[in-house]
Amino acid sequence: MCGIVGYVGENNAKDIIIDGLKKLEYRGYDSSGIALNIGGKLVVRKCKGRISNLEEMIAGENLFATAGIGHTRWATHGAPSDLNAHPHTNGDNTIAVVHNGIIENFVELKEWLSRDYGVEFRSETDTEVIAHLIGIYYNGDLLDAVYKAVDKMRGAYALGVVCAAEPDKIVAVRKDSPLVVGLGNNCNFIASDIPALLKHVRSIYLIENNEVVLLTKNEVKLFNAERKPVHRDVFHVTWDADAAEKEGYDHFMIKEIHEQPKGLYETLHRRIGEDGIIRLDGITMTKEDIERFSKVYIVACGTAYHAGLVGKYIIEKLAKIPVEVDVASEFRYRDPFVDDKTLFIAISQSGETLDTLAALREAKRKGARVLSVVNVVGSSVARESDDMFYTWAGPEIAVASTKAYTTQLMCMYLIALYMGAGKGVLSRAEYDEYLKELGELPELLQKVLDQENKIHDIAKKLYKSQQVFFIGRGLDSSVAYEGSLKLKEISYTNSFAIAAGELKHGTIALIEQDTLVIALATQDFLFEKMLSNIQEVKARGAYVLGLAKENNREIERQSDQVIYIPECRDELTPILSVVPLQILAYYVAKLRGCDIDKPKNLAKSVTVE
Ligand code: F6R
Repeated sequence: MCGIVGYVGENNAKDIIIDGLKKLEYRGYDSSGIALNIGGKLVVRKCKGRISNLEEMIAGENLFATAGIGHTRWATHGAPSDLNAHPHTNGDNTIAVVHNGIIENFVELKEWLSRDYGVEFRSETDTEVIAHLIGIYYNGDLLDAVYKAVDKMRGAYALGVVCAAEPDKIVAVRKDSPLVVGLGNNCNFIASDIPALLKHVRSIYLIENNEVVLLTKNEVKLFNAERKPVHRDVFHVTWDADAAEKEGYDHFMIKEIHEQPKGLYETLHRRIGEDGIIRLDGITMTKEDIERFSKVYIVACGTAYHAGLVGKYIIEKLAKIPVEVDVASEFRYRDPFVDDKTLFIAISQSGETLDTLAALREAKRKGARVLSVVNVVGSSVARESDDMFYTWAGPEIAVASTKAYTTQLMCMYLIALYMGAGKGVLSRAEYDEYLKELGELPELLQKVLDQENKIHDIAKKLYKSQQVFFIGRGLDSSVAYEGSLKLKEISYTNSFAIAAGELKHGTIALIEQDTLVIALATQDFLFEKMLSNIQEVKARGAYVLGLAKENNREIERQSDQVIYIPECRDELTPILSVVPLQILAYYVAKLRGCDIDKPKNLAKSVTVE
């Protein structure tokens, strides 16, 4: 997904911007570029491919400037190409723009600009329209021109704009696409994401929708849509800059897999008071509110949706309230039954997934109370919700989500307990027991991580499989979906997950000699049933990798290989059982030589439809 970095100060803008763009590589991109103001002229360099291509392109050029903007692009309008890469400029190259998001009325604007102003377009992008619009409105005041241009635009955008005639300024705008400002000494920054700035600043302004920012090296001014000055409290980033680096691991994904005990610990322990009661900071629901809800909707995409599947099971069990789970791209277009007695829970690592955001807005419009479970502080989903619950997984860089998922699960348990206790359907003894067992999970998870070498060995045997089936029952089927997604997205193995009881209704036709089946059998009360399902596929020649709790050794008789997770109550297994599947996917992808942290065709944050 696209990334923006801008700098105005006294040092070499080119190096600072390129360095910042590299910190955003994890978002996925297909081209990159930079615009620098050198001696009153805008110098733009951009090209398709990795940032290293851009570096090669400008190596040897003297491009010293103290202000500029840079971009990593992920194609939406127009294929990845040198011409479509950002920044885009107006006709006489006096205005340059970088843009994240989509301009919905760009075709209309393009026609108008060509017809009435004779503008000739050089790219296929919607962004180029913005540069021309600002250009035609420019009359010696960049801020004014940006306001006028924005007035004409519909859609989602974070913009960084520079102007040849105002060499010491950047103007930035945000609407439905993230934007932050970094506050330095004799320098200031813009970025689409905080990690791009961590090397330089810790003091940040989180820019709100429809705000416009004017930056010079000594000043940052924020204005609202009516051009009135806005005050913003400084947000102090406490993350360690190293948290965004690999810390000796080969990939961010495996580093993040290992960070899960810490993520779980943080997500849980900071929220339990001395009296043993959960304090959900950011959640203001009262007992009366909870009692009023007649239904819960959990809506999300991808891995976050899979966390929602577990959430449904747990909330229904502990809080005794019906829960529906839906993928956001379906929910937003199907006129779901939502009213003011509905609790809508949005789950999102990035907090910027467009479908999730649109579903949230739809639910809000219909009167639902909106609670979001989000990892990125200050993200759009968090800000537009009535109640927020941060996952505290820390920055997740690998495209494949791992620690966000397990911390999302932890949040599901905490919400279920909070609601169950609030409604009075969960006894204090049960509540205390659950909390105690949740507290033990980080340690149990470490025991799963300690089996990494064994799982690596299993991966060596299985990595050439062309087709893999994940099966499970109850909570195991929800985890099967996540295990399958991990494997397919990073190793490009054709994998498929199905509730084990459904196999015989069609899918079993695909099982033949040596087909790999990964069978999750961690639910004690469904264990016998799973053994029968394993027998069914074994009878057709499948090679079975079983996953069970360590006391259920009988599975060894039915399976070719087995991975065990520590004993815990059935309801809590998903946090443990997903981890061997994450590690397996990681090593299969590694053995297949895949680009693990940046799988093809995928982006970390999907801010377009
Ligand atoms: C898969 C993955 C995606 C995301 C999905 C939602 O590993 O990461 O499926 O879970 O794109 O993203 P967020 O959680 O940012 O809304």
